[in-house]
Amino acid sequence: MDIGIDLGTANIIITKNKQGVVLNEPSVIAYNKRTERVVAVGTEAYKMEGRAPEHIAVVHPVQGGVISDDVLTQALIRELIFAAAGHPIVKPRIIIAVPSLITEVEKRAILDAATSTGSRRVHLIHEPLAALIGADIAIDQPVGSMVVDIGGGTTDIAVVSMNGIVSTRSVKVAGNHFDQEIMRYVQNKYQIVLGKNTAEEVKMQLCNLYDPADDVTMTVKGRNLARGLPDQCELSQVELYEALEESIITIIETIRRVLEETPPELVGDICANGILLTGGGALLGGLEAYLTRTLGVACRKAKDPLTCVADGISKAFRRKDVLLDGFERVEGYSQG
Ligand SMILES: Nc1ncnc2c1ncn2[C@@H]1O[C@H](COP(=O)(O)OP(=O)(O)OP(=O)(O)O)[C@@H](O)[C@H]1O
Ligand SMILES: [Mg+2]
Repeated sequence: MDIGIDLGTANIIITKNKQGVVLNEPSVIAYNKRTERVVAVGTEAYKMEGRAPEHIAVVHPVQGGVISDDVLTQALIRELIFAAAGHPIVKPRIIIAVPSLITEVEKRAILDAATSTGSRRVHLIHEPLAALIGADIAIDQPVGSMVVDIGGGTTDIAVVSMNGIVSTRSVKVAGNHFDQEIMRYVQNKYQIVLGKNTAEEVKMQLCNLYDPADDVTMTVKGRNLARGLPDQCELSQVELYEALEESIITIIETIRRVLEETPPELVGDICANGILLTGGGALLGGLEAYLTRTLGVACRKAKDPLTCVADGISKAFRRKDVLLDGFERVEGYSQG
């Protein structure tokens, strides 16, 4: 059995054999602090967030694409692989995508999590390579391709040529930060405290970065800061733009830096071929057009930005030889 894993800060996606994506759930685990038992994983655990009693901890064990809690991440991966496979599996081959700037210690934690499922062969693939493969962009040629992956925890920017990463940067400004900025904006302007999920909903439904209108609005509900009672306000696209502007500028500055650090021949390729946008953040309303206008380079989002990396992992099982350069082979790493 071939299992592919995109272990993200916000979502964990699992692919199986040639079927592609078979499971896509929030990277959340809930456990009982008294009995130390897992209560729920994925969507079930996500629903408990902010609603669980004291003795149930609801945890996001992956932060910025790397493991912040070993034991819980292992439990999360194991439970979800079993759920995806439908039964405990015998020695699967696993490919896991990892951020391009991962440290050896972080890499080890991810390998341990994967081998704790009983797998003997685990390969790692750098996320930007997986994203480009997922979008059917040829990466084995001496031609530069750029990908901007705006996830939950981090925005990862990389230039790839001949199956390798040429230049890369990561910044902790992505989906979660956008939500925080929306909460901060509404609190400062209207003295209303929004829940995190409400902020995320506004971001998904109202956002228009390219051409924001002040007469397109959405009612948002929260709690009045002074009175502590339920309260609401009308938020416009222009206001949402104001809330997110600084974050978007940070991302644009980081893209510029990566381009500065990229050899000119490859920059020429990128100008000609455009930039691939992936990760859930690529779905921000108007982002594609906004980035294209600001950078002067065509920016296109992947067909499905949320599963693009996972699609690439799934394809990588068949293109392993081509991709050897992109893999960290961990042969002989035995379980237990
Ligand atoms: N339609 C949308 N508009 C704006 N943002 C969206 C949309 N859909 C999802 N998102 C955001 O995308 C983020 C999750 O994206 P993704 O699943 O790519 O992250 P991840 O891979 O788990 O995180 P990371 O790569 O940082 O570890 C969340 O912050 C979510 O709010
Ligand atoms: Mg991701």
